Amino acid sequence: ADYQLGSYANFMHKEIWEQPESVRRTLLGRLDERFGTARLGGINLDARALRAIRRVKFFGCGSAYYAGQLGANLVEEWARLPADAEPASELRYRNPVVEEDTLYVAISQSGETADTLAAVQELKRKGGQVIGMVNTVGSAIARECGSGTFLHAGPEVSVASTKAYTNMGVCFAMLALALGRVRDLSVSDGARIVAGLDSLPSLIVEVLGAENEISAVAKEHSGAERMFFIGRTRGWPVAREGAQKLKEISYVHAEAYQAGELKHGPLALIEPAMPSVVIVPDDELLAKNIGTIEQIKARGGPVIAVTNADLPDGLADSVIQVPRSEPELDPILFTIPLQVFAYHLAHHLGRDIDKPRNLAKSVTVE
Ligand code: AGP
Repeated sequence: ADYQLGSYANFMHKEIWEQPESVRRTLLGRLDERFGTARLGGINLDARALRAIRRVKFFGCGSAYYAGQLGANLVEEWARLPADAEPASELRYRNPVVEEDTLYVAISQSGETADTLAAVQELKRKGGQVIGMVNTVGSAIARECGSGTFLHAGPEVSVASTKAYTNMGVCFAMLALALGRVRDLSVSDGARIVAGLDSLPSLIVEVLGAENEISAVAKEHSGAERMFFIGRTRGWPVAREGAQKLKEISYVHAEAYQAGELKHGPLALIEPAMPSVVIVPDDELLAKNIGTIEQIKARGGPVIAVTNADLPDGLADSVIQVPRSEPELDPILFTIPLQVFAYHLAHHLGRDIDKPRNLAKSVTVE
């Protein structure tokens, strides 16, 4: 009740703008600069217990599941442990193989999502080790998990998740860092990541500073009835969450696809009325992603590039420029301009942003 709209037009806009502060809040007291690691107090696992983990499985629904994919990538990259993400709604029903040395991570903003809660219960019934990454203190999932990390995003009212999603990414980065540092991740690499996390709030301020430019790009493409969101590896969860935001609040048919899979079918859909938002981090796959843009352009598809690289002039029709961070943290930062893009596109279409049709903020029934 004490969470007010203030001068914002709606909660989604307010929550997008709260992100520098909510990221700062979730990092507070959890980073260790000297040893280049993170401490997540609510997870009662010492170095030995962390080392005993052989696999990590993230699960949640919707955006929480997409965030889990981002988390799994970080765990594989830094801890070199096999990790993946799965929708809780699938996990609960498919009689999963549950292993003792797997860490199961339940993800939820509300802490009340029925499928996620049921998956936690099923995993526990089979002896699985489950922790929660939950925003709402005292919620059913937080209580059921017993241990875990709170996201500290503060209340989130808009149906479309923004600041909770970002804080999921940040908390997974801290978990992956802690898992990495009891294995082969060096103290200097750890310190580089800690510094990268520490600078995220100011980089988010920079992203939000480009709101007018992003809004102009959104307006330019607001006549499209459908859109692709294309990314590979680090860009893949970004593409999925970008498509999710757009479809939820604008009702534009947005589909995410892995860049390398385009030629195996979906390329047939490319035409002037089908713009593609392409995620292009300046990393070892830059040339591949430039190649993807060229493939799309060659078939007459308009391209909106989201990038922190200096792309050749004229390569993409529109460019959303993102500041540089540590490459592994790009997926966290790159999602934010896509929230802004979806927000403004929906706004141009006159949608009811905080309460999109057919959706509830938390899905407490099946
Ligand atoms: C996000 O924008 C969506 N509204 C939705 O996918 C959401 O993330 C999902 O329902 C899970 O909710 P939770 O995080 O509260 O469990």
